[in-house]
Amino acid sequence: MDKSLSPDQRADLVLAEMTLDEKIALVHGAGGFDAAGARSNGGAGVIEGIPRLGLPDLQLADSAVGVRAAAERGRYSTLLPSTIGEAATWDLKMAWAYGDVIGRELRDQQYNVSLGGGVDITREPRNGRNFEYQGEDPVLAGKMVAQFIKGLQSNKVIGDVKHYAFNDQETGRDIGNVLLSKRAARETDLLAFEIAVEEGQPGMVMCSYNKLNGDWACENSYLLTDVLKKAWGFQGFVLSDWGGTHSTTKAALAGLDNEEPGSRFFGAPLKKAVDSNEVPMARLNDMVHRIVRTEFALGVVDDPPKGRVVDPFRGADTAQEIAQEGMVLLKNAANQLPLNAATVKSIAIIGSHADTGMLSGGGSAQVDAPGSGASQWGSAVWFPTSPLKAVRVKAPRAKVEFNDGTDTAAAAALAKSSEVAIVFVNQPTSEGRDLSTLTLPGDQDKLVSAVAAANPHTIVVLETGGPAAMPWIDQVSGAIEVWYPGIRGQVALANILFGDVNPTGKLPVSFARNDGDLPHAKIPGMDQIPAQPDRRFRMAPFDVDYSEGLKVGYKWFDAEKKDPLFAFGHGLSYTAYTYSGLKAGMDSVTFTVRNIGKRAGAEIAQVYAGLPAAANEPPKRLVAWERIPLAPGESKTVTLAIDPKFLSIFNEEKDAWELIAGEYRVFVGGSSRSTPLTATVKH
Ligand code: BGC
Repeated sequence: MDKSLSPDQRADLVLAEMTLDEKIALVHGAGGFDAAGARSNGGAGVIEGIPRLGLPDLQLADSAVGVRAAAERGRYSTLLPSTIGEAATWDLKMAWAYGDVIGRELRDQQYNVSLGGGVDITREPRNGRNFEYQGEDPVLAGKMVAQFIKGLQSNKVIGDVKHYAFNDQETGRDIGNVLLSKRAARETDLLAFEIAVEEGQPGMVMCSYNKLNGDWACENSYLLTDVLKKAWGFQGFVLSDWGGTHSTTKAALAGLDNEEPGSRFFGAPLKKAVDSNEVPMARLNDMVHRIVRTEFALGVVDDPPKGRVVDPFRGADTAQEIAQEGMVLLKNAANQLPLNAATVKSIAIIGSHADTGMLSGGGSAQVDAPGSGASQWGSAVWFPTSPLKAVRVKAPRAKVEFNDGTDTAAAAALAKSSEVAIVFVNQPTSEGRDLSTLTLPGDQDKLVSAVAAANPHTIVVLETGGPAAMPWIDQVSGAIEVWYPGIRGQVALANILFGDVNPTGKLPVSFARNDGDLPHAKIPGMDQIPAQPDRRFRMAPFDVDYSEGLKVGYKWFDAEKKDPLFAFGHGLSYTAYTYSGLKAGMDSVTFTVRNIGKRAGAEIAQVYAGLPAAANEPPKRLVAWERIPLAPGESKTVTLAIDPKFLSIFNEEKDAWELIAGEYRVFVGGSSRSTPLTATVKH
């Protein structure tokens, strides 16, 4: 307990006192999938501590978008907007604040370990878990999740990044074998993890269910040892996703430090393997050292959580701020928005439970809604955040009426008799399953078309986990992406609709026009899934050949010369900005942004680079950005540093990043498809 010693020294002192059985107890979860029989706090797992040595129980809770499984114990947790919505803020301070809410509420509920920090990139836009990740670009995703981790760990809670790596689709997630070259791997998903680990310093990394190039992620020595621990210098510990451990010796030697849940491989079998020296004692000591040093480094030994009542108001305030910054105004023809509360006479609110609530995402990232019991796994949970009420509050003199949209003709009739129609559409997603298509489920496309035909002032609000197709986009005057917007989503939305908040969010993912424009028209493996649910169905092993390689998201659309429906980085404002005066070097770029409109706003200015032709890369990649608040008429000149790694390619032979010689193109602007400033730099 000598705090003047380093976490490593303290861990070594503890290790020297430990028996073999005590060491084994630390490297696996106690109890089974429900932690039955263990000293559980009700989370996804527990690693029982060693009281005689002062090591506390590690209580692990799923907490991707808020602390999960609160209802069962009569607790409350804040539902934040989905992390894809947080990524849409492009605001590092918001990412920190997001993690801070989760860390604080975990601690209030007496957890000391978080299972969140999802950063698998949106390689597959129909992946059911995209809502709990950070979008398609590794630099944006990595930088945002690093701040999330820092905010979270500032509460003396151990943070996590997951799912390491390439769990980019749910279809066959525990049987699929991802095929990808080392170069493509390092420059895409792994770059997001690299930034997360180096800048965020998470205490844990969770290895994923799938295989990469033939080996399970949780026994993949390339991923766990060569890259994570050696190349990136990760000092924390690797725990397996739930049931993602497949062996004892192979996994231990590859670099897995903790099996979750239970002890099938890292309990008695590991003890036997250490006794016979199949797994050297030094490796077991390394596993234990990593776990214990993390406990000291993050304060869970020195300052254990005491338990408090969660402050729902504080959480909701932050959730609202993030939602307001993360909603993306996609289309606003003829300045349809913002609505004028003083003059608008009638508004039709249509579809998607908009009278009572807004959608949240399913699976281990589900948060229980206030007033509800434990959520059913994977079901669509609507939070009691009524847009109808929020709009009525804003426009008390207007006639605001609701139609649920099930009868298209009735919805269209209401739209026709109203000045403005706002149609809410939704796309429920969850862990454990993917979307088969970008097309919105049910008859929602028909509903939007019918309403738009009845009223030229139609605005669509999308509550989706990720990209969706919008065949009606040319028929409507406005569209706004709100993701799953969290506990104050309705207030954030109303503030934007009526102009109390000027939207600033930008897309962290490309929206394709249709499935045919994606790298894979169908999700690999999905054709195996029977049309009717069948409990006996077991998927046959299959390869997930990510043949697009480096061309993820906008890089695909650029390289294939396809136009997306809405480009990565796109997002409108109620004001307008101009760009000028680019000066570009290899280390930094300087340029000026001016607000030429009549309202204050904030522009997310983006810097992209095109590498020399010899690099054989997609046309451009994001290398820097800045959120620039601007009063009407104001202009600011900013200088943004460029990390040389973001201009580099990964050289497989040298096993290192390499900045190649040649001409680099620099593009600056408000989206990946709108870059008014360009320059060329020689290196
Ligand atoms: C999920 C993880 C989660 C774990 C524990 C798994 O099914 O993939 O994200 O942390 O369960 O609930």
